Amino acid sequence: MLSELLNERHLPSLFTMNDGRTADTPDLWRERRRELIDIFSREEYGCTPEAPKSVSGVIESRDDERAFAGKAVWERVRLTFDTPRGPFSFPFNLLIPKGQEKAPVFVHIAFHAAVPDEYLPAEELIDRGYAVATFCYTDVTADSAEMDKLAAMYPRDDKTGWGKIGMWAFAASRILDYLTTRPDIDAARACVTGHSRLGKTALWCGAQDERFSMVVSNDSGCSGAAVSRGKVGESIERITTVFPFWFCGNYRAWSGREAEAPFDQHMLLSLIAPRRLYVCSAHTDTWADPTSEFLSCAAASPAWTLLRVPGLIASDAMPERDVPLMEGGICYHVRTGGHFHSRTDWNWHMDCRDRYRL
Ligand code: GCU
Repeated sequence: MLSELLNERHLPSLFTMNDGRTADTPDLWRERRRELIDIFSREEYGCTPEAPKSVSGVIESRDDERAFAGKAVWERVRLTFDTPRGPFSFPFNLLIPKGQEKAPVFVHIAFHAAVPDEYLPAEELIDRGYAVATFCYTDVTADSAEMDKLAAMYPRDDKTGWGKIGMWAFAASRILDYLTTRPDIDAARACVTGHSRLGKTALWCGAQDERFSMVVSNDSGCSGAAVSRGKVGESIERITTVFPFWFCGNYRAWSGREAEAPFDQHMLLSLIAPRRLYVCSAHTDTWADPTSEFLSCAAASPAWTLLRVPGLIASDAMPERDVPLMEGGICYHVRTGGHFHSRTDWNWHMDCRDRYRL
C-alpha cells in the first residue's frame, strides 16, 4: 500500500514552520514557501541571484517559409541581460506554430542545440499548436566544475553559492522574461520542462518562478522529484561525489544523513502548488527510482489541498504502467521502458496541457 510505504519514509512535514507554527492557511503557506525556498537555496541548489532588470532578445535568423513544411516560424534568438560583471548572452531556438494569435509555449532546457533532437519531437509539438523555446544548457555554463560563461558573471561563495542546476534554471526564467514581451506567445501558458539532470533543473526553476503555469520533470530522480529518504539507485552521497558542481557546497553534508535533513524533495514539489506539476518516470529507470518519485508526489499533495486545489488523485497503490494520472494538480505517469524523454512522454504532457488549457 502506498500509504504504508510513505509512512516508512518518515518524511519531514511540509507545514511545520521554522518557529514551530503550522502553516495551515494559504497566507501562512506563503511564508512557509519562502522558508522552503531559503532551505533549498542554502542546503541544496544554492542561492539564485536577483533577476536582471531587463532582458533583450535579438532575432539572428528567421525562417517563416520553409520551417517544418511551412507550418512554423523558426527563429534563432540571442538573449542578453545585465549581470554584476557586464552583459551576458546566450542563444536559443524559438519555434512558433502558425495559425494562432498567441501560442502556448514549452521552455525546454535541452542537452543539445539541435532541432529536432532525440529528446525534442519538435514537429509533433508544432502540429499540436505548441511553441517551444529550447536552449542548450552548456551554452549557459559547462556541465562541469568549470565556472565559465554565466558562472563567471556572478560572485559565488563555496557553501551557498548556486550550482549549475541553479544557473540553468535561471537561464530558463530569463527566456520567459523575453517571451512575455512577444505578442505571438501566450506567456500565461508557459510550461518549463527538462529530462533527467535537466528535469531537476525544471523543478527548481518552476519552484522559484511562479510565472510558469506548469512544470514537467522527466525522469529527474535523485535531487529532482524523488525523495531521498529510503531512495534506491542514486543517493545524495553518490550525486555529490560525481556531480558536486550541480549543487551548492553545503549539499554534500547531507550525504548519508538524509534522515536528519530538514528537507526532502517532496518539499521542492510542494513549491509548485497550486500550479500544475507533471512528474514522469520510466519503469526500468531504477537509478532515478520511480517509487520514490511517486511517493514524493503523494507527500507533496497536501500543499495543493491547502490551497484548495486537488493534488494527486490516485489509488493507494503504485500506478499501472502507461496509465497517466491527470485528474489532479499533480499529474504522474510511469512509462514502459528506460531513461529517455520520449515522444510518449511529450504526448502525455501535451494531453495534460490541452485538457486544462495550460
Ligand atoms: C546521471 C546522474 C543523474 C542524472 C543523469 C542525467 O545518471 O547520476 O542524476 O539525472 O545522469 O542527467 O542523465
